Amino acid sequence: MFKAVLFDLDGVITDTAEYHYKAWKKLGEEIGISIDREFNEQLKGVSREDSLTRILNHGGQAGKFGNYTEEEFAELAKRKNDNYVEMIQQVSSKDVYSGILELLKELKENGIKIALASASKNGPALLSSMELTEYFDAIADPAKVPHGKPAPDIFIAAASGVGVKASECIGIEDAQAGIQAIKSSGALPIGVGRASDLGEDIALVPDTSSLSLDFLRKVWENEKRSGAF
Ligand code: BG6
Ligand code: MG
Repeated sequence: MFKAVLFDLDGVITDTAEYHYKAWKKLGEEIGISIDREFNEQLKGVSREDSLTRILNHGGQAGKFGNYTEEEFAELAKRKNDNYVEMIQQVSSKDVYSGILELLKELKENGIKIALASASKNGPALLSSMELTEYFDAIADPAKVPHGKPAPDIFIAAASGVGVKASECIGIEDAQAGIQAIKSSGALPIGVGRASDLGEDIALVPDTSSLSLDFLRKVWENEKRSGAF
């Protein structure tokens, strides 16, 4: 049986993926680059700086900083974050997605470790606003891992934070980059979203209300039986 569950935050625990989208869209409008929902799938799970690079490249600007200096680039990233932080001020325990609190409680009661593997530097503050901090045995620090998602680093750090191997974990993600990161870490992915966005080859739920310990066990046992994992 799996020993830990590694949770993404934005778009898995609560709807903050939508705020990230709105904040990037607004910044895009200010700098003349249009961002739609389809392109946004490529931003989900990706660090603040890497997201901005992808946006600038999407707008036809080459290189890490596009047409900006490093300082201007940092200012743009800060502007997006300031706007995002303003948007999440009202987030509370009422905003936790359906099924998540129940799942966290079930995992705790069954001695399964819980870790956060979010790319967001706002993750700890959000867990606190949602009154969920006490459920987490470890919070991997995205500032301390060398490579962001789709690299596996944050999932490996989260597993090691609770003293287990990534291959003994389930990872839950709503992002293409996040699913890739889970796969590369050796953990078993469960996607929240659509096969057209996340792939046909992994276990999926349309939304978090379908997540339960029983469901996670079935996914784990199925994968073990099929030998795919
Ligand atoms: C991820 C989000 O969880 O965190 C991304 O899916 C976001 O959209 C990334 O860019 C970094 O977040 P933050 O809060 O540190 O800018
Ligand atoms: Mg996410």
